[in-house]
Amino acid sequence: MKKIFLFIFVLCVSIMINAEELSSLRGDHPLDEVSKVAEKKNWAKDGEPISRNYVQQPPLIPHKIKGYQINLKFNKCLSCHSWKKYRESGATKISQTHFKDRDGNDLAEVSARRYFCTQCHVPQANAKPLVENTFKPVDAVKN
Ligand code: HEC
Ligand code: HEC
Repeated sequence: MKKIFLFIFVLCVSIMINAEELSSLRGDHPLDEVSKVAEKKNWAKDGEPISRNYVQQPPLIPHKIKGYQINLKFNKCLSCHSWKKYRESGATKISQTHFKDRDGNDLAEVSARRYFCTQCHVPQANAKPLVENTFKPVDAVKN
């Protein structure tokens, strides 16, 4: 029993120490003070595909997507990444998993659960990580 209390105590202390080191995007300003203007982030230039960190990862978007609309009637991403268009655009075609519905049925069109591409695929910006990260890619995708 004592061991459990000691464990909880150590956990609380380490959480408190970590909480002090963390600073949000807004910084640690009091609420009634005006905060500093946030640094402007620039989207990365169009480039080569970015290597993945684990096998099931949705690949990161290696190009700008400013102004690309995805709505009920139109999906800009599919105008290059669909099976119909990928050859002429030179883009990677969406994989077969994008045609499966939630019950595992194979559809002829992109599944609704994969329609809003930016739910999973994100472009990159020059944003410094807020916290240190020591994550290493798995061996299967290292090149
Ligand atoms: C004008 C055509 C075009 C449009 C529109 C477009 N892309 Fe791309 N996309 C490309 C090309 C070309 C590549 C790079 C292919 C290469 O170099 O192998 C690419 C690469 C990618 C990749 C990387 C694939 C990989 O295997 O690593 C992802 C993910 C992606 N795009 C997602 C999107 C999403 C999401 C949208 C919509 C918000 C979008 N793209 C809109 C042309 C386009
Ligand atoms: C629910 C998450 C999700 C959504 C939404 C989604 N994707 Fe993906 N996508 C993935 C994952 C996970 C992978 C990697 C594994 C795979 O191929 O399924 C992937 C892979 C890809 C690839 C690389 C395929 C390959 O063969 O290497 C492209 C290109 C792509 N997606 C484009 C798109 C586009 C365009 C849309 C919107 C029409 C979209 N994705 C919507 C999760 C998603």
